[in-house]
Amino acid sequence: MNLLHLDSSILGDSSASRQLSRALVDAWQAASPEIKVSYRDLASDALSHLSAASLVAGATPAELRDAVQKHEVELAEATLNQFLAADAIVIGAPMYNFTIPTQLKAWIDRIAVAGKTFAYDENGPKGLAGGKKVVIVSTAGGIHAGQVSGQAHEAYLELVLRFLGISDIEIVRAEGLAYGEEPRANAIKGAQAQIDELFAAA
Ligand SMILES: Cc1cc2nc3c(=O)[nH]c(=O)nc-3n(C[C@H](O)[C@H](O)[C@H](O)COP(=O)(O)O)c2cc1C
Repeated sequence: MNLLHLDSSILGDSSASRQLSRALVDAWQAASPEIKVSYRDLASDALSHLSAASLVAGATPAELRDAVQKHEVELAEATLNQFLAADAIVIGAPMYNFTIPTQLKAWIDRIAVAGKTFAYDENGPKGLAGGKKVVIVSTAGGIHAGQVSGQAHEAYLELVLRFLGISDIEIVRAEGLAYGEEPRANAIKGAQAQIDELFAAA
């Protein structure tokens, strides 16, 4: 089984989502030593944003692409193929300004590809990337789960994944991290307990 581990926090060693996504992947590997993990740090190795130049590069016949366009298409294809090859994905997803980090959005813009991961027909949209399990490690300074203020964060991520055909989605959540030392420690402990529970029966 291929597991893709993504981090997107810009807070380096102080990051709660990095700490928890690492703990989650470690627990997964302990439960299933055969899994093959690929790691992608979307913050330190950020993808360029999808742009008009990206679309032009993709639409240009391979033999006519210049070096920049060639690089652009290779990056897009490699990112998409890594996503498609994953049976499971762990996404470290902090809340920044009420939504996901821009680096994680840049990744989504590379994996939401018409004809590859979704399609439309007379019945509406159809996800083509089903059969994967996704665990979102959601962190926030405030408390937003189930509230309007969380819609562009966790709820948005779930929406996009479901649009792509992924229905097996778990959320490991640590929120209220900015409420003080003790609430932060308790929120992280709670998320760790969720991780332990996910693999208790494995
Ligand atoms: C640039 C930035 C913007 C943030 N915006 C929000 C926000 O809109 N709402 C919120 O509840 N917390 C916000 N926070 C707090 C983070 O969600 C919190 O620090 C969380 O731990 C981030 O996860 P991380 O530690 O893995 O980066 C923000 C933090 C940063 C650095």
